[in-house]
Amino acid sequence: MDRGYIYVNKNNFRHNIDYLNNLTDRELCIVVKANAYGHGIDWTVNTAIDSGVVWFAVATIDEAILVRSISDDIRILLLSEPAVSELEKLAIHNIDTTVYNETFIEALGESQHSFNVHLKIDTGMHRVGCSPDKFDMLYEKISSFNNLALEGICTHFPVADTDERQTNHSVKIFKETISAVDIENLLIHADNSASITYNNEKIFNMTRVGLAAYGHSISPVSIASELKPVMEIKTRISNIQIRKKGESVSYGKALILEKDALIATAPIGYGDGYPWNSFPDGKVIVNNKFCRLIGRVTMDQILFDITGMEVEINDEVTILGVSLDSSIEISIKDIAEWNNTIEWEILTNIKDNRLNRVEIEN
Ligand SMILES: Cc1ncc(COP(=O)(O)O)c(C=O)c1O
Repeated sequence: MDRGYIYVNKNNFRHNIDYLNNLTDRELCIVVKANAYGHGIDWTVNTAIDSGVVWFAVATIDEAILVRSISDDIRILLLSEPAVSELEKLAIHNIDTTVYNETFIEALGESQHSFNVHLKIDTGMHRVGCSPDKFDMLYEKISSFNNLALEGICTHFPVADTDERQTNHSVKIFKETISAVDIENLLIHADNSASITYNNEKIFNMTRVGLAAYGHSISPVSIASELKPVMEIKTRISNIQIRKKGESVSYGKALILEKDALIATAPIGYGDGYPWNSFPDGKVIVNNKFCRLIGRVTMDQILFDITGMEVEINDEVTILGVSLDSSIEISIKDIAEWNNTIEWEILTNIKDNRLNRVEIEN
């Protein structure tokens, strides 16, 4: 190992898909945008296909084309309207697209190609989606074009992970908005990783799930989750030094040592997606013990306290995941909390151009 490994555990990913399939009888649409939340899109899509997944959601046309290059037999959903200049690619690569603007629907309708569309309603997220009072007009508009097939109607929840009541209110708006429509042959989807744990509304028959598929439970209700984290990050000790009381290490002299310390360096930094704000609260694991970060995270290296420990250069350092004896763990939630951010941001920032991604089966 030179710098470190991003281990992605295929078995855990399969387990999560099976677990989610048992949790809901809705079709699973696995969200693989942003390089499958930093896990690597290729193996993720292939493994999900082997587990019976048919639907995949992406954020960009390029992601959609990449997923299409993996299989012709799956369905791909673009989660928002692309630029009109990209329309042809939707048709060529057989990509379903989300729609919500009259002008965009007209551009699709006036094209020579045929398109599958999912009409998105804004039920509180206020990001993209048509307002409920525009729904009937847009529904009619889609129906008026022979080259447009309405495949689904959807919405997206803004506070599914924190507020069950407001999410239920969004569901109510959604149901009222589509109440006059024959939904018999349509995909009706709204859920994400959080709402899948409590939204039992029967109207929905598909769920778009990202974070949970990668093993992270996110719910405002108390559930005994059996999800297993898919990613672990390990690196190695690359340098050991003794520093004296009163000295400091790394940029900014951010921490002055209160006593003499043995300090290790590991070759991972914010250039690999390990976030800068991990110091001062962050930790790593060496020899089944937590070691606190002892200076600012730099672009390529971090420093941590190994005082009193018997360690050598090349000993393994766990950045994310469980210790060798499985007694302690650093989770994505921990790293997100040190950085005052969310699990999604930490995962999607992890880069596999300097760390090696290794696919493991167990
Ligand atoms: C429109 C949409 N649907 C579903 C998801 C999946 O969310 P989660 O990762 O919380 O499951 C996302 C995530 O960003 C999204 O933007």
